[in-house]
Parts: sequence; structure tokens; C-alpha cells
Amino acid sequence: MTTSHTHFKNSLDYSPEQFQDLLRKTEQIVLQLYADAPQQKGFHAYEPKEVAAWFDEALPQGASDPMALLDEVKTKVLDTATGNLGPNMYAYVMAGGNQVSTIADFLTSTINQNATKWHLGHAMTEIEKRVVKWTAEMLGYTADAGGVMVSGGSAATLTGLTVARNVFFREHKINQHGLFGRKPFTLYCSSETHNSTDKSVALLGIGTDNLRRIPATADFKMDLTALETQIRKDLAEGYSPFCIVGNAGTVNTGAIDDLRGLAQLAQQYKMWFHVDGAYGGLIASLDEMKSLYDGIELADSIALDFHKWLYQPFEIGCTLVRSWGALRESYFKQADYLDTSLEASNQRLEFNEHYFQLSRNAKAFKVWMSLKAYGFAQIQNMMRKDLALTRYLEQQLRASSDFELLTQSDLAIACFRYRGKLTDETAIAELNQGLIPALENDGRVFITGTRLKGQFVLRACIINHRKSEASIDYLLDVIRDVGTRIMSR
Ligand SMILES: Cc1ncc(COP(=O)(O)O)c(C=O)c1O
Repeated sequence: MTTSHTHFKNSLDYSPEQFQDLLRKTEQIVLQLYADAPQQKGFHAYEPKEVAAWFDEALPQGASDPMALLDEVKTKVLDTATGNLGPNMYAYVMAGGNQVSTIADFLTSTINQNATKWHLGHAMTEIEKRVVKWTAEMLGYTADAGGVMVSGGSAATLTGLTVARNVFFREHKINQHGLFGRKPFTLYCSSETHNSTDKSVALLGIGTDNLRRIPATADFKMDLTALETQIRKDLAEGYSPFCIVGNAGTVNTGAIDDLRGLAQLAQQYKMWFHVDGAYGGLIASLDEMKSLYDGIELADSIALDFHKWLYQPFEIGCTLVRSWGALRESYFKQADYLDTSLEASNQRLEFNEHYFQLSRNAKAFKVWMSLKAYGFAQIQNMMRKDLALTRYLEQQLRASSDFELLTQSDLAIACFRYRGKLTDETAIAELNQGLIPALENDGRVFITGTRLKGQFVLRACIINHRKSEASIDYLLDVIRDVGTRIMSR
């Protein structure tokens, strides 16, 4: 039995009038979100069961009124959202996005381009090439560097380390000889390095046992003497040291390793030098901060995250490597259904030949639009504001007898403890561990903790252009208030 297509509505599109109504309603909702942002709570303490219950429904078979759906979305998703948009978010590394990029994302989705083949998205491909060029310029990196937009910092490190591994394989003819009979090849990073390096090493089949975590000095930077000692030990024992991962801003404290020192060791021992700049890399663009990043230009690959210090909405990261050829060597794979005959004659650059994905949205578009709309100088001013607010927070912490500041960051992370009038170390540790769930329950601000050399601390990351000194004062007032309540129990 055949079914006539006339039984079905002809399309998924609404009439122009209906769509306009939806857009108008969306516009109102978005404007309200921005109007509410200054007062947005940092966190909402819902139980997982409660949130699951909001969405506990069978697969919808019939249509529903999209205007009512927007109301549902507003109530269940937007109004309950964690406070990234507003000034009360200090957890992890959560930036607040920016308005122009939000519009860009909407437009990108509307034209629905696949930006990994030139003839599928010519403007988007050229825009991505331009963003790669601008990014290299921001960092003072090789002008004709290759690069690609990825989902975030973790993917950017995986991409950089994949290229590193593949170059090592080529140089040691491993694709021909296999790995049989050789000792593992080893990588080196500091004890402070983000776990995306561990994950990448595991995914690449190198094994985390072969990632040497080198101790950090008192300022949380990699100890270069310990590093060289470990490299020599490994060489003497028959391992093949092949890559150093440096930090351009650690996730715990914002520590920047001695990048020039690491680059020199990498050169001396013929190793790849990868820099994890996901958190702090873009601060290298500020003239007054450049000296801290000396040597970043010598990296073989750099991981960056634009949803951090370029204030982009999730998700966008970027991997830079010295040349386009290095990426292509790792990712090009001939296939009959991917016509490559036009590339050489027309100089088309194909992103699918320089990265793993064959389908990918035009991620660079929002970066391009926001850089043009605001100008990079204004974005840099917002970075400067984040740094200045962190110095202000540090000042307030130093000046308060009931808080103790435990780090002195070059970037925008402060680690500290609330102690009230307590003097007993165990009681202070317990109070601060108790503060995290208590602050979640309170919800006015959202802050998380970490461990520094074994000690539990509160960690505030300031990376949001909507914060002010008043937001910082509010953070400390709320912690004080909740801390006092815990102590009086
Ligand atoms: C230093 C560092 N590296 C890597 C990452 C991972 O980035 P993403 O969360 O975008 O995957 C982060 C995230 O905070 C980071 O701070």
C-alpha cells in the first residue's frame, strides 16, 4: 500500500507571519534575559529528580504550538539557567558570551553551512582562514600558521597532540615498522596541567603512564630542572621523550610556565612543544603582559579557547600549528566522494583536510563578526578589566581579617579561604569544604573549589565583561554571610 504525500504537511517551515511572531517573541525573551542579567542568580539549587521531572515525557508525535513551546522553554530552561550571563558566576572558567556572537550563531544556523569544504561554504571558509590569521597575529605567532576551529580547549589540545604524535610516527617510520619492540615515547607537563592533556594522551593510545607530571615550583610553574632530569633519566632508560606541554595559564591559578625555557629544552632534545593556552593564551595579546609569554611564538602547536577570553558563546576553541601542511599531513584522507580535483588549480583550502570533522558549523563566523563589531582593542579592554577586578579582589582579601588569600596570580584567578575568626586548621578546612554546597544552596553566587598542593581552597575565576567592583564586593559579602551561618550551626 502506498501512502500519498498529500497526507503530510508539506514542510517544516511556518508561514512568514507565524515565523515572524516566533522571532518577535524570541526577541522579547532575549531582551528580558539581558534586562534581568545584572540580578541573575549564580546558581539554582534544584534536585536532579526535580529537573528530570520537567522533561519526563514521551517522544512527541504530534505538533505543539511553538509560541507555547517558547513559554515552556523560558520557564524551564532560560529562567532557571546557571548564571553565566550575569555577574555572579565565578566557577570553573565561564565567560558571559557577547551579543554580536549570539546573533552570528543564529545567522550561521539559519544558512546552515557546512564549513569544511570550500565549495560548500566559500565565505565561511575564507572567514575561518582570516580568523586563524588574526589569532596568530594576536599572539605574535608565525604569520602563515595553520589553524582550525574546534569545540574548545580540550579538543584543541587533542588536535595539537595528534599532529605531534603523527609527526613523531613519520620521523620514526612507525607506520612502517609498528610499535613492536620499542619502549614507549614520553610526554612532559607540570603537575598543574589541565586533565585534557591526560585525556588526549589516553585517546591517542600513548597511555597516561607515559605522561610525566613534573612537579611545580612554589608559584605553580613547571620546575625546569626537574623536567630536564626526568628527560635525561628517560633517555638513559631507552624511552623516547617526544613532547613537552607548557601552560600559558593553568586552570587552578593561572600560572604561566617559563615558555622560552620549555621551548629551548624541546629544541635541545628534539621534541614537539605544545602550549595549552586555553585559559590564558589570549592575554599574550596585551602589550603589558607579553613578557610573561615570552617563547610562546616558538610553540609547534597552541591550544586556545575563544569561549573563554574572547567572550564567545560556547562552543569554540582553536588549534594553531606552524604550518597548514602539518595539519594536512595528519588529517587528509582521499575519498572518491570528496572531489579534490579543483583544489590545486583554484587554491581552495579545505578544512576537512585539516581536521577530523567532515561536517562542522561555521564556528569562526561569530569570532569574525564580534571582532569587527567591537574591535579587538575593546575586547582587550575587557580582558584588562577582568585582570584589574582580580587585583581588586586580591586587595579586598588581603585587607580582610576573616579571609586569607593563598595565591598571587598574573591572570584572573584568585584562590582563598574564608576563616571568620577561626584559627584551627582543621576547622578552617572543614568550613571551606562546607561552603561549596552551602553556597550552591544559597545560589546568590556560584563559586567552586580546588586543591592547591593538597589544600582545599575556594577558587574565583573572573572572566566576564559584565562584572564590576560591586560584583566582587557582593561575592565576599555572600561568602561571609553563608560562612557565618555555617559557623553558628
Ligand atoms: C588550561 C585549560 N586547558 C584546557 C581546558 C579545557 O577547555 P574546554 O573546557 O573548552 O574543553 C581548560 C578549561 O577550563 C583550561 O582552563
